[in-house]
Amino acid sequence: MKRFVFLPFLWLFSLSVGDCAADANGYFMYADFCCAAHSRDPTQVEYLVDWFFNEEHMMQYNSTVGLWTGFTPAGLITAHQANENKGDLLQRKMERQRICVNNFDVFFTAIKENMAEPNVTLVKTTTSSHGTVFVCSAHDFYPRYIRVTWHLNGQDVTTGVTFSDVLTNGDWTYQVHSFLEYTPERRDTVSCVVEHTSLKEPKIYDWDASLSQSDRSYLIGGVCALLLGAVILSAGLIHHRKKRCDPRFSSAL
Ligand SMILES: *[C@@H]1O[C@H](CO)[C@@H](O)[C@H](O)[C@H]1NC(C)=O
Repeated sequence: MKRFVFLPFLWLFSLSVGDCAADANGYFMYADFCCAAHSRDPTQVEYLVDWFFNEEHMMQYNSTVGLWTGFTPAGLITAHQANENKGDLLQRKMERQRICVNNFDVFFTAIKENMAEPNVTLVKTTTSSHGTVFVCSAHDFYPRYIRVTWHLNGQDVTTGVTFSDVLTNGDWTYQVHSFLEYTPERRDTVSCVVEHTSLKEPKIYDWDASLSQSDRSYLIGGVCALLLGAVILSAGLIHHRKKRCDPRFSSAL
């Protein structure tokens, strides 16, 4: 296991494990090092080392567990050997301290300075292949990790849900799109729930069936008709009152 120490060091500091998602593009021998902060407490930071062999996720060290876990036959053997080696485990502990804990403030400040809240839109579309589809899009957020889920009348829904990959915007920000295939009933409330480190609590975006696009135009039409009626009515009243105040008419009455 000593050779691990000498291999090129490629590591990421991220606010969440989402950023540390195993990168399946790892060729031949490839390792990913990652510090995952789930909270603002540096002592809670999780140090992860992922090993790949021929693009296959072979094994992982997880500092919370304090051991290696093998995923492939070769990975199982290597992980077992590494776990038997107290020196290797001690080495990982020191790495966690040196890389993740000691640099926590620097990285956390850098992440916080660039943190960007997602702009969320929720629309309903109709496609010929999938029927009615709700699209919840989160734009321009940082860091990368985000959770977009769906509620139907306040309850979690998972069937008919698909996601796009998290896409980069070309700057430091990201976007993601989530799709829900569902044909709403008249009284349904469909909501998109967004969780992100820039938000203190999950934000809920509602799509209200009672105010769908066509209903909205009826409503606007109705309000306009009402206003027009009011204008005509008041014009009539003013005219009427004017008539009554006009001495010529009064005397005539
Ligand atoms: C590391 O292990 C802990 C404890 O089992 C677990 O909660 C956490 O999800 C693991 N991290 C990853 C990235 O798998």
